[in-house]
Amino acid sequence: MPNVSSRFTVHTAEEKPELLSKINELTLKSFPAFLFQGDPPTRDYWDSMLERHLPFQFALFEGEEMVGGGVTVPLEWDGTLEDLPENFERILHARGTPNVLCATAGLVVEKHQGRGISRDVLLAMKHIASQHDFSSLVVPVRPNHKQRYPLLPMEEYLKWRRDDGLLFDPWIRTHERLEATILKVMSTASIIPATVKQWEEWTGMRFMSDGQYVIPGGLAPLEISLSKDEGVYIEPNVWMEHKVDL
Ligand SMILES: CC(C)(COP(=O)(O)OP(=O)(O)OC[C@H]1O[C@@H](n2cnc3c(N)ncnc32)[C@H](O)[C@@H]1OP(=O)(O)O)[C@@H](O)C(=O)NCCC(=O)NCCS
Repeated sequence: MPNVSSRFTVHTAEEKPELLSKINELTLKSFPAFLFQGDPPTRDYWDSMLERHLPFQFALFEGEEMVGGGVTVPLEWDGTLEDLPENFERILHARGTPNVLCATAGLVVEKHQGRGISRDVLLAMKHIASQHDFSSLVVPVRPNHKQRYPLLPMEEYLKWRRDDGLLFDPWIRTHERLEATILKVMSTASIIPATVKQWEEWTGMRFMSDGQYVIPGGLAPLEISLSKDEGVYIEPNVWMEHKVDL
């Protein structure tokens, strides 16, 4: 693939199949483990989705070193808010004739975070979308600082702006700087029901009363019911759209 930036080289998993396991490994490291659980576990679709769509998985290299990557999936979308998938399971199961690219993970290797590489990850996604004649890149964005404010509704968090007028959340702001627009809140992006014991294992916490809990990495609280022996986590994300120049 031609370079999308002078700083980095981009390779897809179609060009270099050995990248698939590296992209997958980086994905699993980058998000809280509970996100890949669900019922049935999102992890199962995730692995098969990566393999089905090799030209849409990529890694960014600085010299010989992998510094970031992206996981995307082609999607059929009629352009209306109603037609946007309501959760990740729907995205990963999508069928039909794709006309847009949907990003499911933008990734920067931890030691390279804070260098502005996330912008290049998004540019690579837009480039891949344009190569396949997709008119948009749509993204169910997981705002990376929302975990610091898990009790705040996402709609309220999206109103937060800095003194310079740009959005408060760094990852949403990176999209905004590239002229993406917010479409709507995806209020049920991931729904993860599990037993109390499973939640204790995933979070390293104890839950001995009913109620809402703030959990590490969670964008929203976990709801625990001891009588049902159940904890339910419902994560909101934010649908954004980048128009792609064709
Ligand atoms: C989200 C992620 C891709 C962002 O990449 P990054 O390398 O950390 O961020 P960048 O250096 O490109 O900076 C992007 C913006 O965040 C800001 N930023 C970066 N680190 C920050 C920090 N620790 N605190 C506050 N702002 C920060 C930058 O200043 C920049 O904003 P600006 O251009 O308005 O100044 C990266 O942190 C990541 O891979 N996280 C794990 C996976 C994830 O959450 N992906 C997103 C959901 S799919």
